[in-house]
Amino acid sequence: MSAPTIVPVHAASRSYEVMIGSALLPGIGSFVLPLLPRLRTAIITDSTVASLYLPTVAESLRNAGIHFDVHIIPCGEAAKNFSNLQAILSFLIECGIERSDAILALGGGVIGDIAGMAAALLRRGCAFVQIPTTLLAQVDSSVGGKTAVNMPQGKNLVGAFHQPRLVLADTDTLATLSPRELRAGYAEVIKYGLINDTAFFAWLENNGAKVLSGDTNARRHAIATSVRAKADIVARDETESAGVRELLNLGHTFGHALEAATGFSDALLHGEAVALGMRLAFDFSVWRGLCPASDAARVRTHLQSSGLPVALRSLTQDSGAALVKHMLQDKKMRDGKLPFLLTRGIGQTYLAPDVGLDDVVRFLDETD
Ligand SMILES: NC(=O)c1ccc[n+]([C@@H]2O[C@H](COP(=O)([O-])OP(=O)(O)OC[C@H]3O[C@@H](n4cnc5c(N)ncnc54)[C@H](O)[C@@H]3O)[C@@H](O)[C@H]2O)c1
Ligand SMILES: [Zn+2]
Repeated sequence: MSAPTIVPVHAASRSYEVMIGSALLPGIGSFVLPLLPRLRTAIITDSTVASLYLPTVAESLRNAGIHFDVHIIPCGEAAKNFSNLQAILSFLIECGIERSDAILALGGGVIGDIAGMAAALLRRGCAFVQIPTTLLAQVDSSVGGKTAVNMPQGKNLVGAFHQPRLVLADTDTLATLSPRELRAGYAEVIKYGLINDTAFFAWLENNGAKVLSGDTNARRHAIATSVRAKADIVARDETESAGVRELLNLGHTFGHALEAATGFSDALLHGEAVALGMRLAFDFSVWRGLCPASDAARVRTHLQSSGLPVALRSLTQDSGAALVKHMLQDKKMRDGKLPFLLTRGIGQTYLAPDVGLDDVVRFLDETD
């Protein structure tokens, strides 16, 4: 095992490290030991991840002399709900978890979000450790302290900012991820290049296939660069109140409308929606005369060659107006205007405060 890459996160409320490397899970006991004053913890995970990785984690904790209890929820987005949150909280209370005990969130973004939310609420805030096992969770959701559950009215409507004490991203876990889930997570990697790092996007154009096919060094470089990019943005604007953290939502306003249009189903994974959403954000910026068409073409080509969706009309026949209707529920909506991420080119994304939704409707009706 080579030494892990360490990326520090300096959020206003807390600083912590993200460790990225292979073979981290077998050593997890020693990594979390300094965070467990009572040598006890609780693991929250899902059924798929439990069958794959719980034995390794359990053995490592036992070897380090750490007592633990485990709570397993079903896998999938539908499990990120209030009743599972309540069940997790009851479990944590019943097994005697105190504020100083750190909870372990072992899994993808669903587990990180719901276990993080439970940690934020339990005793007004318990410690927790993110152990992300999907590419999306390793490059995005495990870092930055956003936690949430879904409500019947919409996704992530109830949540809290609560930073973890440590993030342990074992890249070996990505070997069991389905190629489709891997590609969906890769869309968020591409996002960091498109936001503000032209050189990283160019690197991905040349090395993206290696990242997807499992090349260890390429994977680690892509994950560490993504985490550094996210850490930098979170350090400048932890709670999305300074107009900086919004940049992470590139492709997400369109993406969210597409997820809603497809009923938040398996027809379109979040990362796939973000991929198509980024393609639309670039073409919308071209449509407004802001961005060179050649940059939008490069984005489309790279997404497509990475196996991500780029054609709106092969996904839905909904009108522009029907799609924009889904945007009206956006948490960022203020006085009927939606702050929109536009771009002047690859690596030059910015927040436009007052995009008229009628323009978005017209653009969507015209695009392919
Ligand atoms: N908090 C944030 O800042 C933030 C950011 C982005 C996304 N999110 C949230 O993250 C969630 C999506 O995360 P996700 O894509 O990781 O979904 P997920 O947690 O549902 O994982 C996807 C699937 O992969 C399985 N899985 C996990 N690890 C595996 C592994 N190593 N091998 C094989 N299968 C594995 C899971 O059981 C699940 O079925 C959404 O709920 C989204 O809202 C949060
Ligand atoms: Zn996302």
